[in-house]
Amino acid sequence: MSKEVKLTIDGKEVTVPAGSLVVDAAKKVGIDIPIFCYHPKMEPAGMCRQCLVEIGRPAFDRATGEPVMEEGKQKINWGWKLETSCTNPVSEGMVVLTQSEKAKKGQNDILEFQLTSHPLDCPVCDKGGECLLQDMTLAHGSSESRYRFDEKRHAQKHVALGESIWLDRERCIACGRCVRFQSDLVGEAVLDFDMRGAKSEIVTTSEPGFDSVFSGNTTDICPVGALTTANFRFGARPWEMEATASICGECPVGCNTMLDTRRDAKSGGKVIVKRVMPRQNEAVNETWICDKGRFADFSNADRVLEPAIDGKAVEWTEAIGAAAEKLGAAKGDAVFLADGSLSNEDLYTMKVLADAAGAKAMLYSQVGGGALTTKSGSYGGSGAGDVILVIGGDLYKEAPIFWLRAKQAVDRGATLIVATEAETRLDAFATTVVRDLAQGLEAAKKAFAKAENTAVLYSGDDALAQSCADLNPKSLIGVWADANTQGAWEMGYEAIADLSALKGKTVYVAGGDLLVAGAVEAADFVVAQTASMTEASQKAGMTLPSQTVSERDGTFTSGERRVQRFFAAVQPMGEALPGFIITAQIAEKMGVTLEGVSAEVVFADLAEKVAGFAGLSYESLAVVDAEERLSIGGTCYENEQGLGAQLSAVSTN
Ligand code: SF4
Ligand code: FES
Repeated sequence: MSKEVKLTIDGKEVTVPAGSLVVDAAKKVGIDIPIFCYHPKMEPAGMCRQCLVEIGRPAFDRATGEPVMEEGKQKINWGWKLETSCTNPVSEGMVVLTQSEKAKKGQNDILEFQLTSHPLDCPVCDKGGECLLQDMTLAHGSSESRYRFDEKRHAQKHVALGESIWLDRERCIACGRCVRFQSDLVGEAVLDFDMRGAKSEIVTTSEPGFDSVFSGNTTDICPVGALTTANFRFGARPWEMEATASICGECPVGCNTMLDTRRDAKSGGKVIVKRVMPRQNEAVNETWICDKGRFADFSNADRVLEPAIDGKAVEWTEAIGAAAEKLGAAKGDAVFLADGSLSNEDLYTMKVLADAAGAKAMLYSQVGGGALTTKSGSYGGSGAGDVILVIGGDLYKEAPIFWLRAKQAVDRGATLIVATEAETRLDAFATTVVRDLAQGLEAAKKAFAKAENTAVLYSGDDALAQSCADLNPKSLIGVWADANTQGAWEMGYEAIADLSALKGKTVYVAGGDLLVAGAVEAADFVVAQTASMTEASQKAGMTLPSQTVSERDGTFTSGERRVQRFFAAVQPMGEALPGFIITAQIAEKMGVTLEGVSAEVVFADLAEKVAGFAGLSYESLAVVDAEERLSIGGTCYENEQGLGAQLSAVSTN
């Protein structure tokens, strides 16, 4: 157990682990010291001086080492200067004053100084309403400035730092959070300061500009409106939007997000998703999301709006009846085909119907070995003594937050073995890099023998999956193409790698565009449950419009086997229905009774029947541990909607 230190802050006693910073110790007893450059997830830099406090330390006799006493108590030596609370670690008996006249004057002077060259353009600034500088000025700022407005620095407004991020140099307070996030936390030094003093400005040093899949996070941690995203700037004010908890559907990491929505004139007055923001979940994405998720397409262009038979719009009842007839007539020759874009509730309902119809429930996946991943768990906290093997794929492109967590595990002392045929961005952080997959397994075998915790993240076929399973790692994580491929494996879907096997079959396909196109190309007759109108879905014998993740409730199972809930943020388009409702209605016509009213009831049923889900309830996924509510210092949302739950290990024997 780490050593504990007791100190007093504004008269309140607090005990924290040795090495804690004064600013964090204060937070623990509800005292918010004003900060700009400090961020709890990065090493302190002491750049802005906003967090000035008075610090007193117990006096000891230099000759004897004995405490110096005064009026029956140990004397406290006060420094004559104010000190930064974000760079000072706590010490036993320390006394801190954050609200004394001297400390307040120091904090107010720094704030006034920050504003000397700030443009004060809050009415048109995107950060207005969620800006640390604005909040601090309202709370503590002076109503008058001793500095002349016309002497403020002026620079061209809004320069593009890269494809997705814009910089307003006038607003930058040179806190360095963005530079340190990219260079220290991510390990991609694509930003830097140029020039000095009042002329200093943020520049990108990469070609192309701001070349990082994590760039959007800098707009969350920038304490002012200097960094904004291209897709949201001038789009809405924070107080006009509704925030709804969701799970990113772009990859198997399962990042917790918030969908900020607002009525939109350009969309005919509909409520639409204006921006995607991170939601804190320390076990999954901490406070970060990647640009794939942040800039995901919620435009709803080309949605299927109504059911159709042979391209002609029909009523739901007609479509359901016709689909049931077709599937029923095909008997055992019907195939129920899904991908990992479906929710657990959709997959479960489809599997139960397939079983009842004596047909096959199949999952299209280019990464094999799903049945082997029934013991996987989180590897995010890995550090010294632990070994991680990343094999077969490019984590940076496929699952960026998995990549970031592997990199951070290395920072904490973990051994990382990268085995990929081509170079990847993870090579720079690896302990061992091999360009041959078999060699990577050999290297892992040796390293695993001495390791405390072991994890394998693999992308490849069944043979690679089996070799990885043979290493017997604590966590075996398939880096699937979709958000909920793991969910399908848990339900017992069979893998289908080659869709030409569908020749001659009647197929009920539910999933993304690629899967629907493949099924339409290969099968004799296709009932397509899909959200988007593509050339292929128009060719399907029947098209049944399904709702997207932002339109409905449900759960996903991440690659690490964490089940998490997402919630409806916007109204469904057209006549679209959740997948499980469509399937349950078809089932009813086929004489099979399935729950088709609420995701919660379907989840209760699957928790009873699917081994790994045993003991879980919809409510239990919405629980948040008080410990998770950390000070995060940015616009990342605190998690109040649930941390999800890890599935239990399932024996495959
Ligand atoms: Fe800080 Fe924002 Fe300036 Fe970066 S752009 S140094 S985060 S104020
Ligand atoms: Fe402490 Fe900047 S110096 S927050």
